[in-house]
Amino acid sequence: MSASAIALFSSGRRHGNTGRLIDTIAAEADVEVVDLAPLAIAPYDYEHSNRDDDFEPLMRRVLDHQSIVFATPVYWYGPNGPMKIFLDRVCDLLDLPALKPEGRRLREKTAYVVSTSIYPDAPAPFVEMFRDTFDYLGMRYGGIAHLDCRDGYDADAAAPVAAEMVARLAAGSADSS
Ligand SMILES: Cc1cc2nc3c(=O)[nH]c(=O)nc-3n(C[C@H](O)[C@H](O)[C@H](O)COP(=O)(O)O)c2cc1C
Repeated sequence: MSASAIALFSSGRRHGNTGRLIDTIAAEADVEVVDLAPLAIAPYDYEHSNRDDDFEPLMRRVLDHQSIVFATPVYWYGPNGPMKIFLDRVCDLLDLPALKPEGRRLREKTAYVVSTSIYPDAPAPFVEMFRDTFDYLGMRYGGIAHLDCRDGYDADAAAPVAAEMVARLAAGSADSS
């Protein structure tokens, strides 16, 4: 049986600040972590000539889960590049008649954000980009876990941030059962 949550993780390094935070969450919650880095996901293409890449198989995996976690560092007030490309490709589910039923399934899902940066809070444009995108897609927003990594990754500081997200995920899966 699949985990109740899937985390799409993207960073310039697998075991950096964001990777450690999502792994801490996944150690306590029923979360399948998928690293976007090794996947071949081409940028959005109006001609959809990229349909044979890894996006659609990944999306089918994502739609098997009730809760979807987007885990990314803040890079210039936004997500990192591959995460943005993934989000752009979600437009395929709105554009292509064959994929529209899958796109509508996003409306059943709850989306969460896990992030790190060098400030105590994620910047407003970063949070708004995710929230507005989830809203547009009809997804429920389940909240954000953000860790200040100005002085590097501090496991003691990460523990309560991770615990709060674990509790949110547990509450989200209880709501949907
Ligand atoms: C390309 C790049 C852009 C960044 N932009 C921001 C930013 O806009 N705001 C911020 O607070 N930190 C920024 N940072 C710092 C990272 O968000 C922070 O170090 C984060 O914890 C790195 O996570 P990682 O180890 O998963 O890459 C940036 C770092 C990089 C490499």
